[in-house]
Amino acid sequence: MRNQPVKIGLMGLGTVGTGVVRIVQGHQEDLQKQTGLAIEVAKVLVQDKEKERSLSLDKSLITTDAADLFSPDIDVIVEVIGGVHPAKEYILQALDNGKHIVTANKDLMALHGAEILSKAQEKGCDVFYEASVAGGIPILRALVEGFSSDRITQMMGIVNGTTNYIMTKMSQEGAAYEEVLKEAQELGYAETDPTADVEGHDAARKMAILSTLGFHVDMSLEDVDCKGISQVTAEDISYAKKLGYEIKLLGIAKRDDELIEVSVQPTLVHRTHPIASVNGVFNAIYVHGEAVGETMFYGPGAGELPTATAVVSDLVTVVKNMKLGVNGRGSVAPYKEKRLKSDEQIVSRYFLRLIVDDKSGVLAQITSILAEHDVSLEQVLQQPYNEGGQAEIILVTHHASRKNIYSVRDLFEALDSVIEIKSLYRVEGLERK
Ligand code: NAP
Ligand code: HSE
Repeated sequence: MRNQPVKIGLMGLGTVGTGVVRIVQGHQEDLQKQTGLAIEVAKVLVQDKEKERSLSLDKSLITTDAADLFSPDIDVIVEVIGGVHPAKEYILQALDNGKHIVTANKDLMALHGAEILSKAQEKGCDVFYEASVAGGIPILRALVEGFSSDRITQMMGIVNGTTNYIMTKMSQEGAAYEEVLKEAQELGYAETDPTADVEGHDAARKMAILSTLGFHVDMSLEDVDCKGISQVTAEDISYAKKLGYEIKLLGIAKRDDELIEVSVQPTLVHRTHPIASVNGVFNAIYVHGEAVGETMFYGPGAGELPTATAVVSDLVTVVKNMKLGVNGRGSVAPYKEKRLKSDEQIVSRYFLRLIVDDKSGVLAQITSILAEHDVSLEQVLQQPYNEGGQAEIILVTHHASRKNIYSVRDLFEALDSVIEIKSLYRVEGLERK
């Protein structure tokens, strides 16, 4: 029976890497009690050896040569450098060298997760990636273990803290998108290049990971229909509130029978739905299972210690597996055929905001197009626009197929009396499963 310490090769000593060192050092006694073994950070890979660090670490542990972490005495690689390359090559090389992997890298797992997990299985190694989705919320473990006896039908997630902070500020203060984005950048929530967050790419990667684990299909990033928040205006949010909704960047993964849809887009969420009240940088994932019904997981989606908690919990699992001699045997590869819904099969409510000529017959033209496409209205608001003989019309539909709603939008656009379609959003959360 092994009793020497488990040695960690830590790749990255930034926000998450620093938190990992702090937790491994600070919680050593608890970790040892739970796993039966000491855990030791034995080597740390960085880019810049001379950089000032916010924790005290023996300088001899720090290296800029990845090969130092592939030496036989290292048991587990914790990858928190981020990005796809060279993280992918490092992880594959580490697996070739028989090392277990813990990573927080959603970009890598969403794009190359299948290849990495298959190599891990071949080599009898563990790969865990809890921190890659929703930082400190143990949602992947909940899907893989907690819901293993159920069949998940729906996951709706606020899985990007930066955009939730922006949407919350816009909603609470009536501020414009650009203004709040600038403030989020000054506060360090949003990156200097905020594209991955605000255009929904970060959330799409997380939804690809969630739906792969939740629905047992090999969901690729291209299967996630993705739209960001950069077009959302303070007016959209104000009308949504009047109608009883908040606008959130929502990841939606639904399964009806064996047909699946996965998307990320700004969505009106009815204020009675628990996800509507998730504010600021917090994340939440609402999960509905056939047997369990409604559940929701809420917490910090990022940050040094919350994210490191998820990383070190994965480490604990690896070490427990080492003690039991069962590494590489726990993961279940996707076992269901991926069958994606067509636009005809994706059905939802929709919110439309139009600027039209304020003259007789215009509303009739609009309602006739809606009727021809079997789109029924639930709410209608109209008011004068710009005092220039124009009107603003806000429509909330009953359930309609995406195919029909897109046809309606295209026909509205072709009407001379429609000046502009300001917005078209999906609406969720009014009726709960
Ligand atoms: P970070 O603060 O930018 O730190 C990155 C670290 O990796 C730095 O120590 C850097 O070295 C090192 N590094 C980068 N490229 C390298 C390379 N090619 N070779 C060697 N070292 C390299 O990043 P982070 O925020 O900790 O994020 C790490 C990972 O966790 C990412 O995958 C991210 O998506 C994920 N994640 C982060 C959070 C969060 O709250 N930050 C939450 C969830 C998931 P230097 O220090 O020398 O520059
Ligand atoms: N940029 C991400 C967010 C960090 O804003 O949620 C955590 O993945």
